[in-house]
Amino acid sequence: MKKVLVTGGCGYIGSHTIIDLIDNGFEVISVDNNSNSDLKALNGVHEITGQRVKNYTVDLCDYEKTSKIFQNEGFDGVIHFAALKSVGESVGEPLRYFDNNITSLLNVLKCCKEYEVNNFIFSSSCSVYGNAKDLPVTEATPFQEAECPYARTKQMGEQIIRDFSFANKNTQSINLRYFNPAGAHESALIGEASLNAPTNLVPVITETAIGKRDSLTVFGSDYDTVDGSCVRDYIHVMDVASAHTKALQYIIDGKNDTNCDVFNLGIGKGVSVLEAIQAFEKVASKKLNYVIGDRRPGDVVSIYASMDKAKSKLNWETKYDIEDIMRTAWKWEMVRTETVLQS
Ligand code: NAD
Ligand code: WQD
Repeated sequence: MKKVLVTGGCGYIGSHTIIDLIDNGFEVISVDNNSNSDLKALNGVHEITGQRVKNYTVDLCDYEKTSKIFQNEGFDGVIHFAALKSVGESVGEPLRYFDNNITSLLNVLKCCKEYEVNNFIFSSSCSVYGNAKDLPVTEATPFQEAECPYARTKQMGEQIIRDFSFANKNTQSINLRYFNPAGAHESALIGEASLNAPTNLVPVITETAIGKRDSLTVFGSDYDTVDGSCVRDYIHVMDVASAHTKALQYIIDGKNDTNCDVFNLGIGKGVSVLEAIQAFEKVASKKLNYVIGDRRPGDVVSIYASMDKAKSKLNWETKYDIEDIMRTAWKWEMVRTETVLQS
C-alpha cells in the first residue's frame, strides 16, 4: 500500500481527495495547521470511508516540525494542497500570502529531497493564466500578468517546482491547474467549510438560498458573453479529487513522459453566472434572491479549459455537471446549517 502525505487534508479539496485516495487503496496522512479548517472534515472522511486519517496539526512553514513528519512516516508521494487561497485577502496582505504559500512549498520540497520522496503533486490554479487571450485555455497557453498576489504565488510555485524537478531528475512532479471547483461529497458529510467567509459563487448562492445572506449580487451583466455575465468552468470537487489519484498513480507507474508535467482540471465547458443560478434554481426548486450589480474589479470575463490533455494522458473523465454541483452544494448547505442549529 502506497503512503501519501496530503498537506491541507482538513481543507475543502484535500478532504475530498483523501476519500478518493482511500477508495483507491492509498494510505493517507494529513498535515494541516487548521488556519482555514478544523478537524471535523476528517470525522466526515471517517464516516464515509471507515478509516481514521491521522492529522499532524503543524504549520508547514516550520521546517523542523515538517521534517520530523517526513522522517517518522516515510512517504511514497505528496499532494500539496496547503495554501492560503483568498484572492481579495491576498491583495491586502501580500507578504502573508508569499510567506505562507512559498515557504510551505519550499519546506515540503526540501523534505522531499532529503527523504527521497519522488512523487509530487501541486495544487495550481487557472488564475496562473490571468486574462487569457484565446479560449479554451490549453496547458500551453502563456501566463499573463497575475491578477493578484495569490495568483502570483501559484505562478511562482509552478516555477519553483519546475526548477526543482529539473535539478532533481528522480523527482516526478505534476502541477494541476484547477478551474472553479465546487459542490460537495454526495453524502453531505463533508463539503466546503472554510473558516473565512466564502466569496466564491457557489457557496454564495447556497448561503443566500438558506438565508445566511439577504441577496446575491451578480457582478456585471454587460460583458460580451452569452447573457452578459462572466463565464467560468465549474468542476465538481469529487472530479477534482479523482484527478489527483489518477495523476499520482500515473507518476508512480512511470507513465509520464516528462518529470514535471501540468494538467488543466475543468470540465471544458463555460457556464455563465446567470446559467449557474438557473441550474441552482432548477435542482433546489427554489428562486434565488439576486440583483444585478457592477462588474467586480479584476474579474476575467470568460475562461474555460481545454481538457484534452488530462483526459488522454491521465485516462480521467469528469462525472458531474453544473446541476450535480448545485445539488450537492445545496444538500451540504442544508445539512451543515441544520447541524449548527441543533448544537
Ligand atoms: P482550503 O483553505 O479549504 O484548504 C487549504 C488547507 O491548507 C486549509 O485546511 C488550511 O488550514 C491549510 N493550510 C494553509 N496554510 C497552511 C500551512 N502553512 N501549514 C499547514 N496547513 C496549511 O482550500 P481548498 O479550496 O481546499 O484549496 C486547496 C488548494 O487548491 C490550495 O492550494 C488552493 O490555492 C488551490 N486551489 C483552490 C481552488 C478553489 O477554488 N477552492 C481553485 C484553484 C486552486
Ligand atoms: C465566479 C464568477 C464572479 C460571487 C476564483 C479565484 C481563482 C480560483 C477560483 C483559486 C465570477 C461571479 C461571484 C458573487 C458573482 N481559485 N460572482 N457574485 O473569480 O472565477 O476565481 O476562484 O485558485 O483563482 O480567483 O471565482 O467563484 O469568485 O467567481 O457574480 O457573489 O461568479 O464575478 O464571474 P473566480 P468566483
